[in-house]
Amino acid sequence: MADKDGNILAKDYGIGIKPPTRIFPVKGHQCAGWGMQSRLSQIFSDDGRTIMLAFDHGYIMGSTAGLERLDLVIPSIMQYADCLMATRGALRTCIPSNHHKAVALRCTADTSVIKDDMSFGTTNVDIEDAIRMNASCLAVQCFIGSDGEMDSFKNLSYYVNNGEKYGIPVLGVVAVGKQMERTTKYFSLATRLLAENGAHIIKTYYCDNFEQITAACPVPIVIAGGKKIPEAEALDMAYRAISEGAAGVDMGRNVLQAESPIAMLQAIRMVVHENAKPEEAFKAYELLKKDVK
Ligand code: 5RP
Repeated sequence: MADKDGNILAKDYGIGIKPPTRIFPVKGHQCAGWGMQSRLSQIFSDDGRTIMLAFDHGYIMGSTAGLERLDLVIPSIMQYADCLMATRGALRTCIPSNHHKAVALRCTADTSVIKDDMSFGTTNVDIEDAIRMNASCLAVQCFIGSDGEMDSFKNLSYYVNNGEKYGIPVLGVVAVGKQMERTTKYFSLATRLLAENGAHIIKTYYCDNFEQITAACPVPIVIAGGKKIPEAEALDMAYRAISEGAAGVDMGRNVLQAESPIAMLQAIRMVVHENAKPEEAFKAYELLKKDVK
């Protein structure tokens, strides 16, 4: 019950003090609504950067090396990630709900790797279930230039329209199907198309002239890791991507298939959030992996 009498008199009005000016650190979203900004802030730190840990491979690839037992591996390393990228099936069964991380929820269902043309995807998670899962963003796979391109745009539109309605950002994932080229021209087209069609964050692969792609993309770009490469090279790729304007990484196999996934995630953290040079981060990785596997 509110007390009508006997309250301390309000007097600290800060007369003459201007309200603080706040700059929202996530590219392209300075004017977004409060809920949208709040969710983006779950994903991106105050430096405008993020480390996403991708372990959603099973939705098209089945069981993959390093990801056989998500229930064992992910909880043991996720403290060093900012955001978990996963399917709802993996989250529900393998990840404790009190993880306190952002979630990039894989929302589309896409054709599996055993098909030649993987580009015909559909919406899978509906918006209500994404809300029930407390998604920080909705991940939508997009196959630009493929026969299934229009499926991708329909899926993207569904999630962008519903995401805007409920203040949930969309992570547009540039897919590279079997027939697609990994060129600057292709990634430049695909990232821009996804952003212009409303994706709030873009995931793409690192490529030559990457700074042109980040410059022309009005929202943050995070890079995928792709197939496993030596740890030093993966750290170098992350460093180059960040130096050339990426807002972070969304890596899976290059963490989960590393000799020491937990040390690798810590080394990536140094590159993304502490501006460490790749050589320095690799040195730290070598030391850390002796202590932890
Ligand atoms: C597929 C994805 C996956 O999350 C991604 O490929 C997994 O990461 P990595 O390639 O680093 O193993 O977005 O389109």
